[in-house]
Amino acid sequence: GNVPLEMHKVRIVQKLDLVPIERRLEAIKEAGNNTFLLKNQDIYLDMLTDSGVNAMSDKQLAAMMESDDSYAGSASYTRLENKIKEIFGMEYFLPAHQGRACENIISQAYVKPGTIVPMNYHFTTTKAHITLNGGTVEELIIDEGLKTTSDYPFKGNMDVEKLRALIAKHGPEKIAFVRIETGTNLIGGQPHSLENMREVKKVCDEYGIMLVLDASLLADNLYFIKKREEACKDMSIREITRAIAELSDIIYFSARKLGCARGGGICTNNKDVYMKLRELVTLYEGFLTYGGMSIREIEAIAVGLEETMDENMINQGPQFIAYMCEKLKEHGIPVITPPGGLGCHLNAMEFVDHIPQSQYPAGALASALYLVSGVRGMERGTISEQRNEDGSEHFANTELLRLALPRRVFTLSQVEYAVDRIRWLYENRKLIGGLSFVEEPKVLRFFFGKLEPV
Ligand code: F0G
Repeated sequence: GNVPLEMHKVRIVQKLDLVPIERRLEAIKEAGNNTFLLKNQDIYLDMLTDSGVNAMSDKQLAAMMESDDSYAGSASYTRLENKIKEIFGMEYFLPAHQGRACENIISQAYVKPGTIVPMNYHFTTTKAHITLNGGTVEELIIDEGLKTTSDYPFKGNMDVEKLRALIAKHGPEKIAFVRIETGTNLIGGQPHSLENMREVKKVCDEYGIMLVLDASLLADNLYFIKKREEACKDMSIREITRAIAELSDIIYFSARKLGCARGGGICTNNKDVYMKLRELVTLYEGFLTYGGMSIREIEAIAVGLEETMDENMINQGPQFIAYMCEKLKEHGIPVITPPGGLGCHLNAMEFVDHIPQSQYPAGALASALYLVSGVRGMERGTISEQRNEDGSEHFANTELLRLALPRRVFTLSQVEYAVDRIRWLYENRKLIGGLSFVEEPKVLRFFFGKLEPV
């Protein structure tokens, strides 16, 4: 069968508790039905995110012990810079404390009021930074990308015709840059193909527009290109990475997906871009040889990037996710297909089809699943969207409950436990009711907002 094999062994463990359901009921009430506000001590399996919680390797830990501390000119920083050059073939690197810090810097530099940033799909923090600078996000995902069930291998692709039409309509001078998000997060960790990126780059070149790659979820996307793109099946992961990098004017990433607690960075071959962004890095992040990271994290990132070139490492997340999705599908439970990276995504619009979108089905499902299992997922639906300018609700294209599988963290029996509880919840889904806000922050409301049953 398709039982994934762990290509690692566990040598350090962290004790978990599964608190009784009475406590879980109190906990989710205290958290205002927002899983972001739960405390770890009340959680059995934390499937909120893969960010900052992937397992680290023995090699990463070893490198951290050897780090070279200094404000300026540390050898650790030089090691990271060299690793970036080697892997992406990019001359310039700017460190930042995490992914959204890169987004802040890039948006401040290039997004002016009235400009547009076309992208395959938005990410929450990306959109927040672009709109903060007066820009507008245009999502040009292929139609297939928003179909919750599909067997299309690259649902993260950008629709190149839509891109051409958008440029024709507004003129290239209005476009701040084009952004491709690799491993497209909010539609279920769906990959784009290398071929699609080539086509997008061709259009960008025709009009002199920069192509910016958000590479935060690169590891998963690399794996899918290797597995699903016929033309790339004989390429090494390293070669695929280079091919992607050669098409990008700027690559930025969150290093929190590499097992690190913090970190990120911006890479480019363009000296002008580098000079422009450099000033903002020292202003917001720190000196150029640490950028808001600890030296130990810088060492761990360098090793993490190297490990991302290992197919037997990057296959772990996608294989576990595929397994979990398959098991749920066997019980008729609606999940996003094909399985992507990052996590298993339940389609709340179908799971709780008796809850209207105005009552946040994905949020309601997240809260209910925690209650019946101690598993914490993340709402990726309307709660995660920003309201429209006029204050009206902006309904998300999809209502998903994301169950992230941090890489190399959970065992298959823990995945089976989650499947068993989700199955119970599906059989009893009519018990779940909708939610409404009692406290609603203006910016990134999903982080701190509190809700109660309608
Ligand atoms: N871009 C993408 C595609 C991401 O997935 C994330 C983070 C960021 C940017 C921002 O990076 O957190 O280091 O500031 N995704 C996490 C998640 C938070 O849970 O999906 P950050």
